[in-house]
Amino acid sequence: METNQGDYFVIKAKDNGVHVIGLTRGQDTRFHHTEKLDKGEVMIAQFTEHTSAVKVRGKAIIMTRYGTIDTEQ
Ligand code: TRP
Repeated sequence: METNQGDYFVIKAKDNGVHVIGLTRGQDTRFHHTEKLDKGEVMIAQFTEHTSAVKVRGKAIIMTRYGTIDTEQ
């Protein structure tokens, strides 16, 4: 896959201190980036050749092509 060809997703923080954590693609699954969002901040990101999974910690709305998820529900 080319670097910029992955699906986009949107994270909107509903609280201060929401963490968006990128996990590496491949044999070794580990955290490679943690982004901290404060209330109302929005992160738009993609899955890439470096990122195969994302973990969201805290109160947030996550929008993907598969639907929208509220972490509190
Ligand atoms: N350097 C990372 C990458 O290209 C940047 C990144 C993309 C990222 N999507 C992410 C970091 C999701 C955290 C969460 O893969």
